[in-house]
Amino acid sequence: MPTHYFCDGDVAVLSIDNPPVNALSLEVRRGLMEGLNRAAGDAAVRALVITGANGSFPAGADIREIASGAAFEPPILLEVIARIESLGKPVVAAIEGVALGGGFELALACHARIAASGARVGLPEVKLGLIPGAGGTQRFTRLAGPQAALEVISTGEALAAARARALGVLDALADAPLPEAVAWARRLAKEGPVPLASEREEKITAVDPQLFSAWRAAHARKFKGQLAPWRIADAIEAACTRGRAEAFALERQYYLECRESPQRKALMHVFDAERAARKIEGVGPQVTPLPIRRAAVVGGGTMGAGIAVLFANADIPVTLLDVSTAALEAAMERIRSVYAQTLERGRLSRVQADAALRRICGTTDYASLGQVDIAIEAVFEDPALKRAVFEQLDRHLPAHAILATNTSTLDIDSLAQVTGRPQQVVGTHFFSPAHVMKLMENVRGTASAPQTLATVMALAKRLGKIPVMAGNCDGFIGNRMLLYYGVEAERLLEEGATPEQVDGVIEAFGFAMGPLAMRDLAGNDVGWAIRRNRTLPPDERWSPILQRMAEEGRLGRKSDQGFYRYEGGKRHQNPEALALIESVSRALGIERRAISDAEILARLLHPLVNEGAKILAEGIASRAGDIDVVYIHGYGFPAYKGGPMYWGLQEGLEKVIATMARLAPSHGARWAAAPRLVAAAARGTWD
Ligand code: CAA
Repeated sequence: MPTHYFCDGDVAVLSIDNPPVNALSLEVRRGLMEGLNRAAGDAAVRALVITGANGSFPAGADIREIASGAAFEPPILLEVIARIESLGKPVVAAIEGVALGGGFELALACHARIAASGARVGLPEVKLGLIPGAGGTQRFTRLAGPQAALEVISTGEALAAARARALGVLDALADAPLPEAVAWARRLAKEGPVPLASEREEKITAVDPQLFSAWRAAHARKFKGQLAPWRIADAIEAACTRGRAEAFALERQYYLECRESPQRKALMHVFDAERAARKIEGVGPQVTPLPIRRAAVVGGGTMGAGIAVLFANADIPVTLLDVSTAALEAAMERIRSVYAQTLERGRLSRVQADAALRRICGTTDYASLGQVDIAIEAVFEDPALKRAVFEQLDRHLPAHAILATNTSTLDIDSLAQVTGRPQQVVGTHFFSPAHVMKLMENVRGTASAPQTLATVMALAKRLGKIPVMAGNCDGFIGNRMLLYYGVEAERLLEEGATPEQVDGVIEAFGFAMGPLAMRDLAGNDVGWAIRRNRTLPPDERWSPILQRMAEEGRLGRKSDQGFYRYEGGKRHQNPEALALIESVSRALGIERRAISDAEILARLLHPLVNEGAKILAEGIASRAGDIDVVYIHGYGFPAYKGGPMYWGLQEGLEKVIATMARLAPSHGARWAAAPRLVAAAARGTWD
């Protein structure tokens, strides 16, 4: 039975036991209803406690039930909650682990909530394209006020227990929440229960109506194109401006609207894809990861410093190695400024930041790395330099240690060859800034052992990253696809588009930044330097635009002009860049023409899908979903569109094939539709 019922004196305890996360499946809802009715009918029971077995309150509705698209079979959660409110006896929630989504809505409907101090609670529905549909927006707002509700529910943030207590959505923290909740329930039965959250009005009267318009204006960019965050705001506003019954009904209406939306389907695909991506093909659960007790990072530049911060935050002591004390001091300065920012944003307390900083030490001597279990090389992207670092690491690290590289494009096998332990060499590609970006694109070399692979995947979880395992090829999954996107952006400029138009189309699609604004951010000199090291097949060409930009000192943001002009951090049209682009068109004999937004979108995104199909066919990615995860968490593809491979299926793969057929004659044979794309179009799935 997924729910257990027992009595502690005159208090009944209903414990939800549905591993792995105690999701509120149909069986659980039935069990809850039965337990509530039994407690109601038993005169010896004066109060009730709801809790979760195996150290956790429910983490929400059963996602598989939502994904099925069918209406929930009764009793639905709303009915269970209505029964709690009509019970006539006090009900208290005892929370350990997490209480999320429908799980937290269940707790919010109780008369009081007691949580372990390490618990996390929240309403993460927005991450699945949903809004809470069982009164969560209403009860949270009545307990914490609309400002906190807007902030917490629109981002889906899981709140640490102390913060939730301060906001008023938890009543008390306790080392042992269950006995404490039983005592609370008994006291409430004796003294008379406190009002239910749904009956409380004090936080929602006299709310300034400007609050909502100001919030909408401030978040217009952040939530552009999305449905759920706006509906959450509408529901919270309704809690403050409409009658209780009407506001609850509106929340339900918005929930149903979101449940039917393509965004909900896309985000649930992402949820599944992220979890599937953690599983490594050919490596079973019997392979145990190497315990990581101490780490080293080589190279204290932006990436290296960011990676060192990740280890320190995960409670893993880390030694940062650089070539000189001056370089080390600069690296430590970078690290201190990361912590200063984190403190400013309130993500860590001063005590936590100081403790993390103490876990980082510096050295210039490889001989002091004799105790580390893993080293991550993050030096400049120069193959000879990386090989030299790997030789040193191999000489000085203990025999069991793993040697990882943060390269974004280089061959893992050629690095493995310079060591005497190729089975312990692997890629761990982080994205900049490493302490912010969620993706960790791990790369398996030909010789990488199962334990090495399992270790870096487990490490990703400890570091708070979303991992994907890629195969070893030029650019792995992400940068290999990006190449086509970048090439095509410049070809569009040559043919008649402007930077504003190209970026505008991509930003309207949902990316945070278009490809040319991204080039300006990374530096056009850097882009050109990378390109010089690459060779294209004989039937392809680079557009000369990037080279001209670099040579004329139009480096992007760092020189205040590139594809755009920058003033006070804002980008503006750059007539000089446009003149440069037009002169390139003239030199190539291209007659510039008006290009539609639809053409721009197809020519930028369809090649991503086509290249993804090749990556899949070659086994560089194990699943189409892995590619989606890489693009969403590393390259800014809007999660609510599901990633390029999922989006390609929704767009229609035959359209992708048509675009590639059109591009191949002018762009080279490599651009022709991939056989795997054609096969997927015929079957309607990538599987
Ligand atoms: N329903 C069904 N299965 C779930 C689930 C859920 N709500 N949440 C997690 N799982 C499954 C995962 O798919 C995973 O399965 P596999 O082992 O087969 O891959 C397993 O539980 C463990 O999950 P994680 O790998 O994610 O474990 P974790 O320890 O890293 O994280 C967690 C645990 C924090 C609970 C995380 O799983 C999570 O955030 N889950 C989603 C929570 C959520 O979004 N809840 C809201 C659902 S919508 C809702 O509740 C509204 C409504 O009423 C309709």
